[in-house]
Amino acid sequence: MRFASTLLLALPALALAEEQIPLLEKVKGFFNKATAAVSSAIPAAPSAPINAAANKAAAKAAEAIQHPLTLENWKEVLTVDPTASTPTTQEWLIFVTGGNSTCFGFCGNATKAWNASLPIIAAKPNAPKFAYLDCETENILCNAWSVGAPSLYYFQIPKPLADQSAPVPTVRYRPLNRTSTTTETFKTLIVDNEILKVEPYEGLFHPFNGLLQQYNLAIPYGYATWGFSKMPSWLPMILISFASRSFMGKRMGGPTPPPQGAARPAQ
Ligand SMILES: *[C@@H]1O[C@H](CO)[C@@H](O)[C@H](O)[C@H]1NC(C)=O
Ligand SMILES: *[C@@H]1O[C@H](CO)[C@@H](O)[C@H](O)[C@H]1NC(C)=O
Ligand SMILES: *[C@@H]1O[C@H](CO)[C@@H](O)[C@H](O)[C@H]1NC(C)=O
Ligand SMILES: *[C@@H]1O[C@H](CO)[C@@H](O)[C@H](O)[C@H]1NC(C)=O
Repeated sequence: MRFASTLLLALPALALAEEQIPLLEKVKGFFNKATAAVSSAIPAAPSAPINAAANKAAAKAAEAIQHPLTLENWKEVLTVDPTASTPTTQEWLIFVTGGNSTCFGFCGNATKAWNASLPIIAAKPNAPKFAYLDCETENILCNAWSVGAPSLYYFQIPKPLADQSAPVPTVRYRPLNRTSTTTETFKTLIVDNEILKVEPYEGLFHPFNGLLQQYNLAIPYGYATWGFSKMPSWLPMILISFASRSFMGKRMGGPTPPPQGAARPAQ
């Protein structure tokens, strides 16, 4: 992950460099370098301490750019810069990742590629803002939005109008492949704007406008699904067995059955 520090050093130079090459082209050039660096850095991995240090540096750089999302803070974080002049739209790019129980431990490569891509995507003209959602720690929020890891969630949030009415944000959800996601994937999606080809999501779990949000059910739903995932698989069996046994018990061993022809009382 040596390239990460090189990139950080190069970014100011990039910003100051003469304007002959359009900025976008430069960003694409950096992506190619980053992709090469990632693929050469990953399989080798002989010097663990050096890699650990480089990974730490990359994680630190990523941390400076992206906002961690939690159940409590997401509504405040995912907003429009109040100083921006109306009408305007703030774009937010949310990377969803997970750990052993939420991604079967397979999100590491995609997360590395995402963190490595961040400084480069941030150099893109009109770059979006970035957020990071870890389903391992924010399981309830991930369930409430019904998102899996790894994935990208792309929000276009309009600033509230003068009369305080807020147009509905557009959201696009793109699951990522656990094994084949690289910096190239993020380049295609974000720098080349492929993500705009994803159909906007308008269903039940829309974070701003879905029915669950409108009726304040998203969070209870998140807790319920989280509870089910924590429930051992034998528990439903036992519960069903108890329920049916007490039901049968009532029917079989109950008091004298009602006389023939009489209306049966509701059980
Ligand atoms: C990616 O960056 C985040 C901070 O934003 C950090 O918590 C995480 O450990 C990093 N992951 C990797 C694999 O570098
Ligand atoms: C995830 O699983 C791997 C392999 O089973 C293990 O080495 C690692 O410590 C686990 N990580 C966490 C955070 O539990
Ligand atoms: C991550 O990348 C390494 C090197 O390319 C590969 O050996 C490993 O299987 C990948 N892990 C996952 C979960 O895809
Ligand atoms: C992810 O990528 C691998 C390798 O390119 C491919 O074999 C697999 O089918 C892909 N998985 C999905 C869900 O697209």
